[in-house]
Amino acid sequence: MIEKIKETASFLHSRVEGDMPRIAIILGTGLGALVDHIEDKQYIPYTEIPNMPVSTVEGHSGNLIFGRLAGKRVIAMQGRFHYYEGYDMKQVTFPVRVFQAIGVSTLFVSNAAGGMNKEFKVGDIMTITDHINLFPENPLRGKNYSELGPRFPAMTEAYDPGLMAEADTVASNLGIRLMHGVYVGTPGPTFETPAEYEYFRVIGGDAVGMSTVPEVIVANHAGMRVYGISVITDLGGKDIKEVPTHEEVQLAAQKAQPNMLAIIKGLVASI
Ligand code: HPA
Repeated sequence: MIEKIKETASFLHSRVEGDMPRIAIILGTGLGALVDHIEDKQYIPYTEIPNMPVSTVEGHSGNLIFGRLAGKRVIAMQGRFHYYEGYDMKQVTFPVRVFQAIGVSTLFVSNAAGGMNKEFKVGDIMTITDHINLFPENPLRGKNYSELGPRFPAMTEAYDPGLMAEADTVASNLGIRLMHGVYVGTPGPTFETPAEYEYFRVIGGDAVGMSTVPEVIVANHAGMRVYGISVITDLGGKDIKEVPTHEEVQLAAQKAQPNMLAIIKGLVASI
């Protein structure tokens, strides 16, 4: 694994024009428009990057994009790797290891999620304050490489309190309704049964989705600061009759996109 990470990092060092970014952004469902705000873009398709898995899902194209956002050098992942696609946890989190190897110290993650919190509305955006890992495997299972991080990393502040507070400031300055909540990470690809949404709410979840948790675990292991944001694309629970669809999720995510972009841009500017 270490050799693969080194190989991919040195490929990027040879290909990337300009300084290596310290900020990485994983673009989730329907949030591709962030790319339009990145200046001086350099696209590197996953297919050209050694050891990079290739993404398969509709609505996710596969590129690393290097450029400048709000005046800062960033690397954006256009298309992420989901566990439900069949990748193992090491593949899902491989890009985060590469970010670590090139010197990234802050990670932004975004996703679409179903809301269980009764205060939430479709189209709301939510700062992820914490998560519950319900994936069947932890990405750190197996041999620990101490050069990558500790055997037993703390997850007490998996999401950086300073970035969360800054997001609240950005949102209130712009008059954006920004919720807070706990993200439950599940393997998917099924959406939840009403009883499952109810169960996730009872155990402390506010929103549920099929990504993010593996990458955030590895980012914490790597010592990065993390900010996560979800767009609530559907609601679930025992009293909710609407059936979530992939199309509805994409549509709601697109509608919330401008607010999400404003928060991320504001945060990047503040770093
Ligand atoms: N459940 C799981 N993942 C999701 C959902 C959901 O309701 N909405 C968007 N991603």
